[in-house]
Amino acid sequence: MSFSAIVLAAGSGSRMHSALPKQYMPLEGKPVLYYSLKAFQESPVDEIVLVVPSGDEEYALKEIVCRFGFDKVHSIAAGQDTRAGSVLNGIKAAKSDHVLIHDSARAFVTGELIKRMMDAAVAFKAAAAAVPEKNTIKVADSDGYVTSTPDRSTLWEIQTPQGFEKDLLLEGYEKTGGMPSEKITDDAMVVELSGCSKVKLVMGEYTNIKITTPEDLEIGRMILKNRLTSGS
Ligand code: C5P
Repeated sequence: MSFSAIVLAAGSGSRMHSALPKQYMPLEGKPVLYYSLKAFQESPVDEIVLVVPSGDEEYALKEIVCRFGFDKVHSIAAGQDTRAGSVLNGIKAAKSDHVLIHDSARAFVTGELIKRMMDAAVAFKAAAAAVPEKNTIKVADSDGYVTSTPDRSTLWEIQTPQGFEKDLLLEGYEKTGGMPSEKITDDAMVVELSGCSKVKLVMGEYTNIKITTPEDLEIGRMILKNRLTSGS
């Protein structure tokens, strides 16, 4: 049994309104991407595949992988225009029989959560980190009129890491090949749609936020400060 962590950092981060892609933006003196790579470097995974925008491979190798000594990064793959395409390139470079797919924008993933997801990937074949939804969610039509209000007690907010048997996830991607890939916003969805396996939800962490907008960087600073003072 072996595990490859596929760390996705090939997005353009357009919602950050910054010329510098968000994965390279500084957060307490280190690039955002540093934090998730550090968590996987210190975890029991066997290797890390880093996926960056095509053309950034040299920069990522020199400025992040070598600079911070992340020697579990065995390959740096080029991403594609869609997240699903970036994941596929990462899976092709992965050498293990299990994969953990992680959005590098979730910079505050902990070692405990990584271990939970590794155990769940082995036990359930397909598993996603998730937290119970705290807000009321409404479905609306394209004119902004509410069409329904799902029962909140059944709703979960999905996070990464998500863990899979590698062949099962590849089969899922093959079977859903006809679907417009920008609609695939996570990997659990690929397995759900393929019908190849059920997907088990595993308790995530409310601090495992995805850095998307400038305010998230502020929240991120608070999470890091809090960890420093609590010694975790
Ligand atoms: O766009 P979104 O916030 O869903 O992106 C989630 C993660 O997927 C980010 O870490 C981003 O860098 C990555 N991504 C990627 N390739 C893309 C789009 C997003 O690796 N084409």
